[in-house]
Amino acid sequence: MGHNFQYDLCIVGGAGHVGLPLGVVFADSGVKTVLLDINQGALKKIMGGEFPFIEKNGNTVLQSALAKKMLFASDSSEVISKSKFVVIIVGTPVDEFLNPDFRGITKLFDESISHFREGQVLILRSTVFPGTTEKIQKYFKKKNIKAKVTFCPERIAEGYAVEELRALPQLVSAYDDEGLREVTELFRKISPKEPIAMKPIEAELAKLFINSWRYIKFAVANQFFMIAQNNGLNFHIIQKAMSKDYPRDHDLPAAGFAAGPCLFKDTMQLSAFTHNHFLIGNAAMLVNEGLVNHVVHELKREFPDSLSEKTVAILGMAFKPELDDPRSSLSYKLRKMLLMECDVVLCTDEFIKDPAFVPLEVALRDSDIVILATPHKKYQEIDPRKHPNKKFVDVWNFWKLS
Ligand SMILES: NC(=O)c1ccc[n+]([C@@H]2O[C@H](COP(=O)([O-])OP(=O)(O)OC[C@H]3O[C@@H](n4cnc5c(N)ncnc54)[C@H](O)[C@@H]3O)[C@@H](O)[C@H]2O)c1
Repeated sequence: MGHNFQYDLCIVGGAGHVGLPLGVVFADSGVKTVLLDINQGALKKIMGGEFPFIEKNGNTVLQSALAKKMLFASDSSEVISKSKFVVIIVGTPVDEFLNPDFRGITKLFDESISHFREGQVLILRSTVFPGTTEKIQKYFKKKNIKAKVTFCPERIAEGYAVEELRALPQLVSAYDDEGLREVTELFRKISPKEPIAMKPIEAELAKLFINSWRYIKFAVANQFFMIAQNNGLNFHIIQKAMSKDYPRDHDLPAAGFAAGPCLFKDTMQLSAFTHNHFLIGNAAMLVNEGLVNHVVHELKREFPDSLSEKTVAILGMAFKPELDDPRSSLSYKLRKMLLMECDVVLCTDEFIKDPAFVPLEVALRDSDIVILATPHKKYQEIDPRKHPNKKFVDVWNFWKLS
């Protein structure tokens, strides 16, 4: 790329769900990329041509990048100083009190600051608490490090990053024209969509608004679902009628468990940023998390004397269909609650390997109640009508029972 660095790009956290697809897409587009990660097992798998988690078309693009000799891996932070651009994916997760936790990102910079120098461009990629980019910019200044600090948030849907990185416009932000020009040119290499320039604080907020908006939309559907059910009505019939030939309601999502490592966290991040005055965000959290309580409560109502003797099967433990990612999945909250109320709770998943889970056939055979928690495609093969003695719970309307 016309500079004196061994690598064009270093991705810190390069074996993860955000870092790996990004690195692979850059490398396949001719950007010499090194993945830096502490997970040696994952790096080994990646250099053997295999993603350590499910990613649509991931292996094809990974193998193409490796064949072009554009993708490298390392567990030594030395590679940071050998790279023109450095992407950092460590964010500011919310702690148990729903406040942002800066320990991870502070530790990372304390440990790696000596590897940065003039001529480099730092790209913060993880979703962060607004103001974090400026804090890091000031930290670099204090340490007299002249690398440019930029913030370019990741906006992909997990599992579909390889496709989306090539199709979505990037949000790019920096503190001067030179930094902005450099990141814009870099991202032009992977997508024909022109990057969108903003101030760092605007880009930080844009990312939080994006995720909170999605989380709130799910909450609206879930709240409507619960209102209908609490009144003995079927929400799916109402929703179908609302949106049939009525385009203004087409954006109302299906009811369902809304979770995962980002939406809840980022909504709470925005809540903390507004000093807990993000009322609609807090309400969305209570509604989305409350759907699990609602499901359990409905079962208690239906089986007031016998729920404690029942075996319940939870179908799907991943936070999203067709993926193997259990992080912040509501299936685990459901399991916790059911363990208090039922005799036995059986868990099954098509993609997550866990010795505590049972095969689907066993879950179906041995249960009195079946709860569809994650609508993996495989579960379409189940026909609840063929099991008249079992109770099926399907908030998604996946089996179109109504
Ligand atoms: N998952 C998504 O779809 C998504 C989308 C947008 C933003 N984000 C944000 O991206 C961040 C990371 O999410 P993720 O899903 O990629 O997480 P992940 O756990 O899949 O990946 C993180 C990676 O970083 C590595 N790592 C941790 N500490 C390290 C260190 N000190 N040095 C080098 N490597 C280190 C881990 O081994 C892991 O491979 C989160 O803050 C999240 O909010 C995620």
